[in-house]
Amino acid sequence: MPWIKAAKSQDVPVGTGKLVIVDDYLIALFNVDGVFYAIDDACPHQGAPLSDGRVEGCVAICPWHGAEFDVTTGKLLGGPGVRDVQAYAVKTKEDDVLIEVP
Ligand code: FES
Repeated sequence: MPWIKAAKSQDVPVGTGKLVIVDDYLIALFNVDGVFYAIDDACPHQGAPLSDGRVEGCVAICPWHGAEFDVTTGKLLGGPGVRDVQAYAVKTKEDDVLIEVP
């Protein structure tokens, strides 16, 4: 599975998320204390962009109705979400953030 450059690390400040499009996948990339995590951007409840929501520690909070997802695994933790989301492997190389897509 290919590793594809998704962003520059400085484009995603600590404690924020950013929408990146990688090989046609819409992915929410989060920076948690300098470590990057990637999950599907679309909330499975009604499709809100998770990259627009808050991230508290390793928990991404949907901006529409508050579903909570573990950004390290994509697991649904609470709220009205209906299922887990896909999580993607992330690595950094110098200033680049790379995501492994299927
Ligand atoms: S769209 Fe995310 S909780 Fe409703």
